[in-house]
Amino acid sequence: MLKYKTISKSADETRQIAAKLIRLLDVGDVVLLTGDLGAGKTTFVSGALNELGYKDHVVSPTFNILKCYFEVNPNIYHIDAYRLEDQNIDIGLEEYIEGNGICFIEWPKFIEPLIPMRHLEISLKRIGDNEREIVLIDQNDFYKDIIKSFEGK
Ligand SMILES: Nc1ncnc2c1ncn2[C@@H]1O[C@H](COP(=O)(O)OP(=O)(O)O)[C@@H](O)[C@H]1O
Ligand SMILES: [Mg+2]
Repeated sequence: MLKYKTISKSADETRQIAAKLIRLLDVGDVVLLTGDLGAGKTTFVSGALNELGYKDHVVSPTFNILKCYFEVNPNIYHIDAYRLEDQNIDIGLEEYIEGNGICFIEWPKFIEPLIPMRHLEISLKRIGDNEREIVLIDQNDFYKDIIKSFEGK
């Protein structure tokens, strides 16, 4: 398992990290966003979307679970599983995870059976009003190059 840890001092800095990451990802990649409410998971996704040219405000899909951004290339699928809470609802999310776009998943623990081995986790932790500890976690060694490029190696 490889990790890259950094401290973000503002929402914009978090968006910049996401912007760098999205340029290193490919269609079919799955990014898990973990951390408490307000940690910055949705902010992170907005950074990725803005980098791809999406101009509107990005909101969490908490109430509709999935938002598809077909207007950007690659397509972005944003899942927030918070409201599913292990209910195991068969609503066809599989189609978007490892699908023909890049998938970001908030609260992945609630859809654990749907999470593929090949994924990158972004863990966000609030350490102050505007400070967040951000850790990129490559649990199963699929994203060595991405971790290295964040380390600057
Ligand atoms: N360093 C930071 N990184 C990310 N968000 C931050 C940071 N500092 C302050 N914030 C604020 O924290 C809030 C995070 O909210 P959000 O991204 O919706 O969190 P989550 O999706 O994890 O519940 C936003 O209001 C954002 O502006
Ligand atoms: Mg959110």
